[in-house]
Amino acid sequence: MDERRTAIVTGALGGIGRAVAEALTAANYVVVLVDINTEEGTTLAARLNGHFVAADLAQRRDCRRVVDETIDRFGRVDVLVNNAGFQHISPIESFPEDKWDLMLAVMLTAPFLLTKYVWPHLQAQHWGRVINIASIHGQVASPYKAAYISAKHGLIGLTRTTALEGGNHGITVNAICPAYVRTPLVESQIAAQAESRHISADTVIEDVMLAPAAIKRLIEPAEVAALVTYLCSDAASAITGAALNIDLGWTAR
Ligand SMILES: NC(=O)c1ccc[n+]([C@@H]2O[C@H](COP(=O)([O-])OP(=O)(O)OC[C@H]3O[C@@H](n4cnc5c(N)ncnc54)[C@H](O)[C@@H]3O)[C@@H](O)[C@H]2O)c1
Repeated sequence: MDERRTAIVTGALGGIGRAVAEALTAANYVVVLVDINTEEGTTLAARLNGHFVAADLAQRRDCRRVVDETIDRFGRVDVLVNNAGFQHISPIESFPEDKWDLMLAVMLTAPFLLTKYVWPHLQAQHWGRVINIASIHGQVASPYKAAYISAKHGLIGLTRTTALEGGNHGITVNAICPAYVRTPLVESQIAAQAESRHISADTVIEDVMLAPAAIKRLIEPAEVAALVTYLCSDAASAITGAALNIDLGWTAR
C-alpha cells in the first residue's frame, strides 16, 4: 500500500481543480480526482499516477462512494479539497428553482457530506486538511448570482464551524476566496459579456469584471493551487478557520 498522503480533489477536470491535482501530485500526494467526465478523468489520473472517481456530487450516494473508494484503494485519506462548482446568472424573480437546488447540492451539501465522511479518518490519524474553494463571492455579493453567492457564503460558514471542531484533532479547515481565475468557467462568462455588450474581451476584463480590483488581470489557476499546497504543508498548521482572499485587492476598499 502507498505510504504517501492521499488527497481527494473534486471538480478535478476543471481549471482550478486540475491545477490543484497537478500541484499536489508534484508535492508527493496521491491524488484522487473526482469529476463527472469519465474518459478525460481516467486519462488525467493516469498521467498523474492518481485515481479517478466518476461521481455526480449532487448525489449523496456518490459522495459516500468517493470516500469509500479512496479508503478501499489507498487505505487512507489525508486531504480533501472541495472545489467542484459552477455558476448560473439570473435575476431572483426568474431564478430557476431546480438550478438553486442543484447549486446548493454541489457547492454546499457535497462539501458537508465529504467533510463528514473523511472526518473519522482524519481524526484517527490526528492530521488532516480540508480546503474549501469558496470565492470572493463568499465574502461579498454581486447581483444575479443568488445561488452561487448563497452557497459560497455557506461554505465559509461550514469552514469556520469545522475548523473549530478539528482544532483538537490536528485537522485544519480553510477556505480560499479567489476573484476571477482564468478557467473555462470565466472564459465563457467573458465571451458572453463581450457579445451582449458589444465590447472586446479585454474591455470586459478590465472595465466590467475587474472594476473593483486594484490589479487588473485574471488570476492563474496555479496561483490558487500554490495556496492549496501551502495550506496542506506542516508550515501552515496554525492557519485554520480562515477565509483567505486571492482577490487582486477587490475587497481592500
Ligand atoms: N474561475 C473563477 O474565477 C473562480 C473564482 C472563484 C471561485 N471559483 C470556484 O472554483 C471552483 C472551480 O472553478 P473552475 O473555475 O475551475 O470551474 P470549472 O468549470 O473549470 O471546473 C469545475 C469542475 O467541477 C465539476 N463539477 C460540476 N458539477 C459537478 C458535479 N455535480 N459533480 C462532480 N463534478 C462537478 C465540473 O465538471 C468541472 O470539471 C468552483 O467551486 C468555483 O466556484 C472559481
